[in-house]
Amino acid sequence: MIKFTIITLFREALEPYLKTSMMWKATEKGLAEFDFVNLRDFGLGPHKSVDDTPYGGGDGMLLRCEPVFAAIESVKAKDPDAKVILPTPVGKIWNQKMARSIKDGHYIILCPHYEGYDERILSIVDYKISLGKYVLTGGELPALIIIDSVVRLIPGVLGGEKSAEIESFSDGDNLEYPQYTKPYDFRGMTVPDILLSGNHGEIAKWREDHSGKA
Ligand code: ADE
Repeated sequence: MIKFTIITLFREALEPYLKTSMMWKATEKGLAEFDFVNLRDFGLGPHKSVDDTPYGGGDGMLLRCEPVFAAIESVKAKDPDAKVILPTPVGKIWNQKMARSIKDGHYIILCPHYEGYDERILSIVDYKISLGKYVLTGGELPALIIIDSVVRLIPGVLGGEKSAEIESFSDGDNLEYPQYTKPYDFRGMTVPDILLSGNHGEIAKWREDHSGKA
C-alpha cells in the first residue's frame, strides 16, 4: 500500500486528476491512497499568511518555515515514518528508476508556490526532486507526475501483464518499444511484418532493438 499526502494551497488543481482513470482505479482497489493537507490551515495571523519577502531583497515571496513545518509535523504526528518529497527545480532529476524505487510507504509531497521557499525547509525534506530543467509556478504538476509514474507501476493498476512487461523492459534508460494495432495498413503506413510473424523470439529481439533509449 502506498500513500501520498499532498500539502498544497491548490487541492482543486490536483483532485480531478487523482479521481480519474488509473489513479482512481488504484484508490478504488485499495492499492493507493491520496490525502490532502491545506497549507493555508497552518498560515500565520488573521490572513493565514504562508509566505513573506526574502531577506536581502529581491522579487517575490518565499514560503515561510512555520506553516510548512507545522503542516508536515501534523502528518508526522500520526505517521512518524512518512517521508517528505519536495518538488524543486534544483532537485535530482526524476526518472523511471526512481519511480520504481518508491513502492510501499507514506510519502508527503510538499508543493511550494510563489517564487520559492525558505532554505531551512530543506532540513525536514528527505527527497528533493526536479521534473526537468525548467521552472513551473508550483509543485502541483510535479506532484501529479511523481504520483502517476509511481502508481502505474503497482501490480494490479495497469493489469498484471502490462506491468510485468514494463518491469522487464525498463531499467531506467530503456523505455518503450513502438507498438501497433489494427488496421495493418493505415494510409499506406504499414505495420512491421515481423510483428505478424508469430515468431515470439524474433518479436522480442525486434522490440529490444527498437526500445527508445532515454
Ligand atoms: N517547481 C518548479 N519547477 C519545478 C521543476 N522543474 N521540477 C520540480 N519542481 C518544480
